[in-house]
Amino acid sequence: MEILYIIPALALIAGTLFWLPRRLRRPRLATALPLTGQTFPDGFLWGTGEDAYQHEGGNEHADWYAWERSEPHPFADGSVAGRCVDFWNRYEDDFSRAAADGQNFHRVGVEWSRVEPTPGIYDDAAFAHYRLMLESLKAKGMRVAVNLWHFTLPAWAATAGAWENPQTMVRWEAYVGECGRRFGDLVDYWSTMIDAQIYVLRGYFTGEIPPLKHDPATGVRVLGTLAHAHARAYRILKPFGGQVGMIYFFSLCQSAGNPLDAFVTDQFDRLFNWNLTDALRTGRLQVAIAGGPRVDLSLPEAAGTLDWLGINYYYREIIRFNPRAQGLVERGPAPGASLTDMGWEIYPEGLYRLCKALRRRYPGMPLVITENGLADRGDERRPRFILDHLAWLHRLLAEGCPLLGYSYWAGTDNLEWLDGFAPKFGLYRVDMKTMERRETASARLYRFIATNNRLPRESEVAGLLNPPVAG
Ligand code: BGC
Repeated sequence: MEILYIIPALALIAGTLFWLPRRLRRPRLATALPLTGQTFPDGFLWGTGEDAYQHEGGNEHADWYAWERSEPHPFADGSVAGRCVDFWNRYEDDFSRAAADGQNFHRVGVEWSRVEPTPGIYDDAAFAHYRLMLESLKAKGMRVAVNLWHFTLPAWAATAGAWENPQTMVRWEAYVGECGRRFGDLVDYWSTMIDAQIYVLRGYFTGEIPPLKHDPATGVRVLGTLAHAHARAYRILKPFGGQVGMIYFFSLCQSAGNPLDAFVTDQFDRLFNWNLTDALRTGRLQVAIAGGPRVDLSLPEAAGTLDWLGINYYYREIIRFNPRAQGLVERGPAPGASLTDMGWEIYPEGLYRLCKALRRRYPGMPLVITENGLADRGDERRPRFILDHLAWLHRLLAEGCPLLGYSYWAGTDNLEWLDGFAPKFGLYRVDMKTMERRETASARLYRFIATNNRLPRESEVAGLLNPPVAG
């Protein structure tokens, strides 16, 4: 008899605990701030940038180069990096365009496999080519950021066990030293590496990118190795001048509402956003995943090794507990949100909320938005995307956040890793046959903003996007 009461009672409790909170706490969708011609501080950095592997082309000594040609083919659109968008040969034009567009900040990457194709033997011509690039940026009055590692490794390092082999650290230190010695006079902001946690998550948890492992326990140890690699690079680069930091992909993680959602959100948020960056402040890397790997590493050499932090911000994720999902975590956009071509939620306020969280967590840390952008083939959502993110950033500045600059990702289209060339992030669209760069309306808008160091007023926007046809 009691069973008749127990079942509805349990259903009621479950509903109240798990279903109702999700209904009641539906995430608020994007809100836009008014455009009133907000002015940015003098000297604010306006930039774009290129990544080595994603833009240069011809990086045949990288581990990805051979992997891209393997079966089953790893990239969604069937492409290979190949000559990419030929930035290696076209950098001068791309930089000239950025300078003419009013930009005063630019980031490039060095591809380790290009300058050290064989262990211990450097390619002086490749180093010299990078030096010409940096000199060209300086000659155009740019503040220069250089990144030293992003996902790809020299094939010889990958074959020998990637970061799991202690020899990789030995060669890394020597490579970093070479970069310091050869480029130190030209670099304002060093980034030791980009998105290190994504390398670990996709390389060791989900096994989607080299080293293609399903071994989270090793992955979290590699995260410790990367913290150490950053710390070593910090000490090596400091004597050459410039601010030394790291570029890192932060996502705004928000619980879907119920207590289990909140639990998995907290776990994911720590691992994705904070474990590594906290270690670079405190000298302690603590990873604790319920039912998964744990590390508690003392890394005293890593404490205080961020002179600046580069923030890559793209989206918010609503996180739910899902017993069938990998790691029990289901991530996705808020229901009803406006999305990019890659299905990422457009949520400009997230950049504001994230920077506030960073400011609370790392008081006084100089921040640069090193990447913010979207895949938008038709350039339909990009103008509002840029305006809305910048309006929120302006509010942040008005509240005293130590924000030095903003860089749109990317100046031109690029290789979007596993998604190949299908997603179009560029302010300038690249014709993949002729390599010709074509201006978008967003490029015109960004030019106005960078040149005038202010946002347009709402009444100015349409004119900037659709300039009157001459004659
Ligand atoms: C990475 C880029 C990538 C972008 C969009 C960034 O954090 O640095 O390589 O293209 O995210 O996915």
